[in-house]
Amino acid sequence: MTDEFIQPLLAWYDENKRILPWRDKHNAYYTWVSEIMLQQTRVEAVKPYFERFIRELPDIRDLAACPEEKLLKLWEGLGYYSRVRNMQLAAREMVEKYNGRLPEDFSLLISLKGIGSYTAGAIASIAYGIPVPAVDGNVFRVVTRMTEDSEDITRPAFRKKTESALQEIIPKDRPGDFNQAMMELGAVVCVPNG
Ligand code: ADE
Repeated sequence: MTDEFIQPLLAWYDENKRILPWRDKHNAYYTWVSEIMLQQTRVEAVKPYFERFIRELPDIRDLAACPEEKLLKLWEGLGYYSRVRNMQLAAREMVEKYNGRLPEDFSLLISLKGIGSYTAGAIASIAYGIPVPAVDGNVFRVVTRMTEDSEDITRPAFRKKTESALQEIIPKDRPGDFNQAMMELGAVVCVPNG
């Protein structure tokens, strides 16, 4: 698996990854904000929102203390306002419990408001180098095309199965790059209907 698939994938990613304002910054807050914005919005549309958001609210304490009106203004146009409301609740919990930082632990991350298994996996692996998978729609598509699995990807059991399979093969030295490479492949090469 390593020689046939993982090394070529990582080499492809190193050569071809898009330059994105939240990428390769080693800042867990940036990873979190970008992954939440990207949940329902395309990369190109997210870029200016992300840059304004972190300029206005540079860290978790700023987000926790932000007046509601300003917060909603920063999100205007992205839609699904519950996403940013949940982020603020999670930020307040982090100020109270974790010294204003995103915890370096998958189960603590997933216990926070608005952070599910995908987002917890993305933050843990990309920002902290913890070897856990991050399975979004793009990754599902890449995996099912490789395995020629025709199972219904909306079934929760299928998510579990995919996460367990990826957990087995995720490279311990580059978990964040592996997850981002899978996402990137799904976003730019292994596209829907393509
Ligand atoms: N889509 C959502 N998160 C992403 C990431 N970190 N890299 C590429 N595409 C993404």
